[in-house]
Amino acid sequence: MRLVVLGAAGGIGQPLSLLLKTRLPPGFELALYDLAPVTPGVAVDLSHIPTDVLVEGYAGEDPTPALRGADVVIIPAGVARKPGMDRSDLFKFNAGVIKNLVRHCAQVCPDAMLAIITNPVNSIIPIAAEVLQQAGVYNPRKLFGITTLDVLRAETFVARAMKCRAGSLTVPVIGGHSGTTILPLFSQVVGQHFSHDELLEMTRHVQNAGTDVVNAKAGGGSATLAMAQAGLRFCMSLVHARQGEPGIVEYAYVEGGSPHARFFAQAVRLGVNGIEEVMDYGTLSALEQDELTSMLPTLREEIELGVKFVQQG
Ligand code: NAI
Repeated sequence: MRLVVLGAAGGIGQPLSLLLKTRLPPGFELALYDLAPVTPGVAVDLSHIPTDVLVEGYAGEDPTPALRGADVVIIPAGVARKPGMDRSDLFKFNAGVIKNLVRHCAQVCPDAMLAIITNPVNSIIPIAAEVLQQAGVYNPRKLFGITTLDVLRAETFVARAMKCRAGSLTVPVIGGHSGTTILPLFSQVVGQHFSHDELLEMTRHVQNAGTDVVNAKAGGGSATLAMAQAGLRFCMSLVHARQGEPGIVEYAYVEGGSPHARFFAQAVRLGVNGIEEVMDYGTLSALEQDELTSMLPTLREEIELGVKFVQQG
């Protein structure tokens, strides 16, 4: 199997590629691509780590050589936030980057699974879907916006608040990946007895966690290391599902027949050919229902922005 990272030389791309080199099963090919000329060197660097994963690196304007034969393509290419920016400020630049890269994917590896990290995810995934649709190769079961970092954050914060072992609790996170569209369902955490105010505070903490990192890095970038870990988790789930392991479930922003919006983050059961089932998110508390109702217009607007960018462009 061949896994390709587009944007592999960046703040997320490099640690993600490192984690993939150390964790992919033996026999895998890992192809790194980025505009940045350092990319072949990143591949040489990683190739000295003793695992049976073959690493190749490509730089320049054309991702085609990296994409040939790809089974899974993960995309963190584009610009990241600086203090004072929200994710929608990235749209102008990143929309064009993704349109171009996904066009190449449609031509070179139309059957690959595409997992996109680039922000603003809520608008970027609709762009990818429209580009694939125009190329006649769109399969909604194989296109994912990566929201795993929201899940990691929610699980970390709730475990800390409940004084449980880190990683021992699961939290569904639904909706989208920007501000209030990120909706963690803390009411579904087994054994929780939080007050309304505590639940609201934890919800805001998850929604603002990306901005907290941007501010703490003081102009030096946004979340990269935790995002690399989240990207690894998502990629490994895709890989294991593709290898036939049953019962693999992840949260992702997908086109999956949600009653709320064309694209919606929810739990998906993964199989050999991508999404096998979009899973029901269960019962919402009154607080969560209110949060969902008030964020849906934003989510729908952000989806429309992406769709129009391709249809009118
Ligand atoms: P970065 O600026 O450090 O790296 C981006 C890389 O993309 C650079 O190496 C750049 O050369 C490359 N690039 C730009 N245009 C390209 C193109 N047309 N083709 C190939 N490569 C290209 O940014 P960082 O920190 O790695 O973030 C990447 C993206 O991930 C940002 O949009 C950021 O907002 C997003 N992000 C998403 C998260 C999520 O939860 N989905 C979490 C954190 C960041």
